[in-house]
Amino acid sequence: MPRPGAALLLCLLLLSLPEPPAAESSFQLPAPQNMTIYSYNYQNLLRWAPVKVDNGSVLYTVQYSTMACDCWEEINCTNITKTECNFTHPNIKSFWTITLRVRAELGQVKSVWVETNTFVADQNTTIGPPVIVNVDSTPDSLFLSFVPPVKEDTLQYLVRYWEKSTNKQHETEWTKNTRIGLLNLKQLTEYCFQIRAKVHILHDNIGPLSKTDCHRTAANDATRAGFVVIIFVAATVTVVFSAIVCFLFIQKFHQVIKYWFQPPFKMPPHIEEYLKDPGMPVLEELQNNCAEEDPWDSLSVVSNAEGSQALVKDTLNTHVHSDSRSTESGKNFITLR
Ligand SMILES: *[C@@H]1O[C@H](CO)[C@@H](O)[C@H](O)[C@H]1NC(C)=O
Ligand SMILES: *[C@@H]1O[C@H](CO)[C@@H](O)[C@H](O)[C@H]1NC(C)=O
Ligand SMILES: *[C@@H]1O[C@H](CO)[C@@H](O)[C@H](O)[C@H]1NC(C)=O
Ligand SMILES: *[C@@H]1O[C@H](CO)[C@@H](O)[C@H](O)[C@H]1NC(C)=O
Ligand SMILES: *[C@@H]1O[C@H](CO)[C@@H](O)[C@H](O)[C@H]1NC(C)=O
Ligand SMILES: *[C@@H]1O[C@H](CO)[C@@H](O)[C@H](O)[C@H]1NC(C)=O
Repeated sequence: MPRPGAALLLCLLLLSLPEPPAAESSFQLPAPQNMTIYSYNYQNLLRWAPVKVDNGSVLYTVQYSTMACDCWEEINCTNITKTECNFTHPNIKSFWTITLRVRAELGQVKSVWVETNTFVADQNTTIGPPVIVNVDSTPDSLFLSFVPPVKEDTLQYLVRYWEKSTNKQHETEWTKNTRIGLLNLKQLTEYCFQIRAKVHILHDNIGPLSKTDCHRTAANDATRAGFVVIIFVAATVTVVFSAIVCFLFIQKFHQVIKYWFQPPFKMPPHIEEYLKDPGMPVLEELQNNCAEEDPWDSLSVVSNAEGSQALVKDTLNTHVHSDSRSTESGKNFITLR
């Protein structure tokens, strides 16, 4: 009965067939674990946990495949010792759906390949917020100028903003412009804002918001004019008030000030000469009047020593009586400058 023998042989043959791979697998290296793709602004990095062996340095190889081809390509991450691979490469288009795989290798011993999830840079990358470089403020708007996180045509931007004191949030429309206006704001008010970018493709890939920045709107013309008026009025009031205080002070301490700041009066020589001039009827009259004990009542000399012009004003006052002599002669009142 050759049949059962043949069947047994076949059976043994079948059993023995997987033997060589099974034997090899027992010497296999453990596969890399915890493969993670980090992608920020289209900078793509694959990382994995190192494969631990007692001695020797493990080498890793990374490959990628696209949906278009059932084949694996190298990406300059072959026989590397680092446990990361920068697969940012112009050959790998951002809209491609790719899969990566990694294998460990120590001498002749290799691990199995481990594959990542599918990765589409446009969808999976994290688009960082744009960087605001300038804020122009007008009375009713703020204009934010910013630089895009990456040079991609597919990017759009949005600003979230709120009045600092209220926290009621508003959002602009998505736009491709790198200058966004926040309109219909209140003047002289502090507004806070955050900006974000997105990759606008089939499924929007919206990036995180930037840190909060705050800026104040400008004053409008009317308010500015109001400020000018207020400042002017305040200045005027201050000046007038100081003048009044000065005046009252001088009034009150008139005698003291005079005593402290004014040297004893000495008639300027030219005036003395003028008065002594015999041709002048003034002195005569004066003398006459004195002799007659006419009502020369007071001699008041006021000298303003504070003024820079050294103004000297001598006034001879007379009590103007209603008698005819006083009125007939206007010379009774003399003013010398
Ligand atoms: C992989 O990640 C898990 C969880 O983060 C951790 O517990 C584990 O130790 C990691 N494995 C290796 C080989 O680092
Ligand atoms: C480990 O190291 C020893 C001595 O350094 C060497 O003889 C041995 O071949 C190494 N084993 C492997 C797997 O590399
Ligand atoms: C590959 O990597 C090596 C070393 O890291 C570098 O010198 C070389 O320029 C890279 N080649 C490409 C095509 O990126
Ligand atoms: C990587 O290493 C293997 C053996 O460890 C070798 O056969 C292969 O040629 C190496 N590849 C490159 C690109 O260096
Ligand atoms: C990754 O590679 C790209 C292109 O070669 C390079 O611009 C970038 O700086 C690299 N990133 C890191 C983290 O090495
Ligand atoms: C990329 O994003 C898709 C959809 O969000 C997700 O299913 C996939 O796991 C991501 N790929 C990686 C490598 O994280």
